[in-house]
Amino acid sequence: MQRRDFLQAAFPLTALSALCAACQKDAATDPNNNGANTGPVVNNDFEDFDVRTQLLQPGEFISRRGVLIIRIAANNDLSAFQAFSNVCPHAGGQLQFEAASNQVWCPVHGSRFTAAGQLLLGPAATGLTTLRTEWRFPFIRVWLR
Ligand code: FES
Repeated sequence: MQRRDFLQAAFPLTALSALCAACQKDAATDPNNNGANTGPVVNNDFEDFDVRTQLLQPGEFISRRGVLIIRIAANNDLSAFQAFSNVCPHAGGQLQFEAASNQVWCPVHGSRFTAAGQLLLGPAATGLTTLRTEWRFPFIRVWLR
């Protein structure tokens, strides 16, 4: 038996792990990518939102992977978006955005927050946790940690 055949038989997941690691390379840092953003990058540290197809109008929001992201203005730059941890600071409820009042609210006990995350009404005692964002047109990247 050849050494390579032995290693593949003994450690089949090692080769698969190496392949997966190569696939997860960030396209934005790939020297062969020429700087083009060809699609969202899958990563456990951040979530990408495509602003060509999502969050098109002020008042639209998405709740995904613990992120609540809201388009608060029509312009196409970072200032048009707010991103929060989608965990209510009172007892962990999942937040929603109410475009009519321009407020974030928690359906569990009714806490309310401004679109900038400041506390308006309890029982929560603090405002929302703002998440770091990065403009990578056509994506807005929200850092999860
Ligand atoms: S969990 Fe949100 S107000 Fe209580």
